[in-house]
Amino acid sequence: TKPIQIAIDGPAAAGKSTIAKIVAEKLGYIYIDTGAMYRAITLKALTEGINMASNEEAGQLLAKTEIDLQPSENGQLVFLDKKDVTEAIRSQHVTKAVSEMAAHELVRLRMVELQQQLAEGRGVVMDGRDIGTDVLPDAALKVFMSASVEERARRRFEENKKRNILTPLEELQAEIAKRDKMDSERIVSPLRQADDAIYLDTTDLTIDQAAQNILKLAEERL
Ligand code: C5P
Repeated sequence: TKPIQIAIDGPAAAGKSTIAKIVAEKLGYIYIDTGAMYRAITLKALTEGINMASNEEAGQLLAKTEIDLQPSENGQLVFLDKKDVTEAIRSQHVTKAVSEMAAHELVRLRMVELQQQLAEGRGVVMDGRDIGTDVLPDAALKVFMSASVEERARRRFEENKKRNILTPLEELQAEIAKRDKMDSERIVSPLRQADDAIYLDTTDLTIDQAAQNILKLAEERL
């Protein structure tokens, strides 16, 4: 059967990447975490101390930045100017700044172009905010995945614990809610469910159940 493209969008910490990885592995497709790209350019902006609010500075930074994603055994490696930043882009510092950087039109144009190149002609599971609406508008399967903000904060808290990050639950919930608001209210390709996307509420689902749900939808389209 011909490989298909699967777009998974939704708010922060909804479990998109965990589930997308499982689905990709089961189908033998590549998994592309697009948030990692916005995180990488944000890391560079923070390191160079540019003014995040400035379109012009964001554009100049972009012109001298190389972002590369490479599939790896446990998902994906992220390279910024040839340096492995897979872990560094997950810091709370980057997380808090990323939505401002991701709102710039120039930044989005460049990232979408890269994402489309990566997906071209192959079976992919891509997760993000605008995959079904802008990046892969013809994807055979589009899923909009969500869960209550309380549940999403709780999951992020548990995930952090394993990595020895101890941000309080209330702080995580506030950060997640703020990011969702910024991502949904930006002018350029805001976070929204594509008209032809299937809504999946994972609040009461296990990781495995959510993955099975999507695999079933994918099989119907193969
Ligand atoms: O998916 P993740 O939470 O790592 O994404 C980090 C941020 O990157 C999001 O909050 C959003 O601001 C931005 N993003 C985006 N479009 C995407 C993926 C992520 O604007 N396709």
